Amino acid sequence: MDRIIIRGGKRLSGRLPISGAKNAALTLMPCALLTEEPLTLRNLPRLADVDSFGHLLNQLGASTQIEGARPEDFGRVMTIRAGKLTSTEAPYDIVRKMRASILVLGPLVGRGGEAVVSLPGGCAIGNRPIDLHLKAMEAIGAEIELAAGYVKATAPGGRLPGGDYVFPIVSVGATENVVMAAVTARGVSRIGNAAREPEIVDLCNCLVAMGAKISGIGTETLIITGVERLHGATYAVMPDRIEAGSYACAAAITGGDLELAGVDIEDMRATITALVQAGVEVEEKGDVLRVNAPGPLKPLTLATAPFPGFATDMQAQFMAMLTLAEGASVLTETIFENRYMHVPELARMGADIHVSGRTAVVRGVAKLNGAPVMATDLRASMSLILAGLAAEGETQVARVYHLDRGYERLEEKLQAVGADIERAGDG
Ligand code: EPZ
Repeated sequence: MDRIIIRGGKRLSGRLPISGAKNAALTLMPCALLTEEPLTLRNLPRLADVDSFGHLLNQLGASTQIEGARPEDFGRVMTIRAGKLTSTEAPYDIVRKMRASILVLGPLVGRGGEAVVSLPGGCAIGNRPIDLHLKAMEAIGAEIELAAGYVKATAPGGRLPGGDYVFPIVSVGATENVVMAAVTARGVSRIGNAAREPEIVDLCNCLVAMGAKISGIGTETLIITGVERLHGATYAVMPDRIEAGSYACAAAITGGDLELAGVDIEDMRATITALVQAGVEVEEKGDVLRVNAPGPLKPLTLATAPFPGFATDMQAQFMAMLTLAEGASVLTETIFENRYMHVPELARMGADIHVSGRTAVVRGVAKLNGAPVMATDLRASMSLILAGLAAEGETQVARVYHLDRGYERLEEKLQAVGADIERAGDG
């Protein structure tokens, strides 16, 4: 298994390109199942999870063709053709490796009236049930059966009637699934307390480009008027706001000065506000965000929340940054029940963090020390990379396959702005 080796203490500076958003790509790819015509996605990030989703689509009988990807390019163009599906089943061995596979449930029911998807099981950051996905699907007319670790969803008569549903809590994936099922329903569906993440907006915009009728895009109430069928389209994946936020933390923790190129600043308001409160200078220049940290970092009190609040996917990265702040920070993780797996690893590098329930108190220390550490989940592994960039000495991050799920060519991007970082196989 690969490791990443970092010799810390280098101030990062320069321009760093931001890739297409993983969490948008993983909900745009299954949209191709809703039409017999080709869906072409541009700015698709080169990530393990994107490859896994492509294999799942192939398993269902769709072809996925990568076009014009020169090795030096960031991102790729993929055309997905789901003219003829040969299966409506997402098997356990695929779903257990990538939870986002559950996002074929809605489009398969919306396309042909049936889906059989393995229950995903938990993951490192929590048990992450899918009860809200199923309740929302039932509310728009799907019949749900659970058996032998699989969920079978069917549309009576082959086409969903549509219906109304108000989510009891905000769920990104469940909102995505029910929207993708409702766009080809017979009637109108009203979804209340829908997730408003930019990735949901990207999904709705792509579906509209394919002929769907959706109003309230970007709000917590989506009104979807079903249409007979969708047509193909060409659509560009939005920039990755979490990748951008992660590299903003890299500038902050190394006292660096980075220009993040190709971002959508409006998607990053909560992150920008938190960075400024921490004493980081942020300059907005169109689709370039300049992040400069000449002085000491100030402590913060932060709680994660659904968009437009502070993203749970940014919590681990900010925690790494705040281990070097001048004072004590208080972080509260309100979305997942076990998203502090990075804490013991950061502590091995000298961080002073105390976790009680969903709250972590981070007391700033003068410096971090490089150490061998272990990645446990995607964003936790990024927090260890960030700590390694600032630590004195060498840090080795093991199990970097977690990182490859969500960060395109991470070490190349960081090397280009001055980091002493390399990937080593377990030779
Ligand atoms: C998406 O996961 C993202 N993944 C996550 O990013 C992100 O952390 C999360 O949204 C929150 O923003 C993708 O988009 C592929 P949820 P998702 O449904 O959809 C509970 C990353 O690092 N819940 O919004 O699974 C759930 O347990 C990943 O890129 C139910 O109880 O998140 C959690 O506590 C990690 N029942 C809360 O809701 C359900 O049926 C929010 O989960 C569904 C969710």
